[in-house]
Amino acid sequence: MAVLEIRTLPDPVLRRKAKRVTTIDGSIQKLIDDMIDTLRAVHGAGLAAPQIGVSLRIAVIGIPEKEVITLINPEIVRREGVRVVEEGCLSYPGYYGEIKRSEVVKVKAQNRQGKQFRLKGEELLAQALEHETDHLNGILYIDHVESPDKLWKVTSQDSEP
Ligand code: NI
Repeated sequence: MAVLEIRTLPDPVLRRKAKRVTTIDGSIQKLIDDMIDTLRAVHGAGLAAPQIGVSLRIAVIGIPEKEVITLINPEIVRREGVRVVEEGCLSYPGYYGEIKRSEVVKVKAQNRQGKQFRLKGEELLAQALEHETDHLNGILYIDHVESPDKLWKVTSQDSEP
């Protein structure tokens, strides 16, 4: 169990397409534990393995007051609707931006036991599913910001996103 350093831009690991996990062994279990510890330490909504320097398709999502969701090899199978959201990222600290995300997102993934499952998310969970799956493809939310005036610096009145 360990809290790991979060990689920030321009670290190239954030721009790499992460590899599929083929064997869920002890080292993967340790990695997931460390990701959950790190997510809790920074009070984040989600964390993808590339953000701690590991180019594998693993993400953890921690919506407040819900159990942490671990996603191995997640794939978005359906998106519905569009909504405008404000978003930030631990790998691009000090900023937040306005982007469009889906209202409903369905993913299929494996859990930490390797079992396939499907998950439907709305609102904050849908946003987190898209955000973390993007990370596994080397995409950050800033890539979805349509113009520079929709990206803001965090001021002292705002909390870090
Ligand atoms: Ni992020």
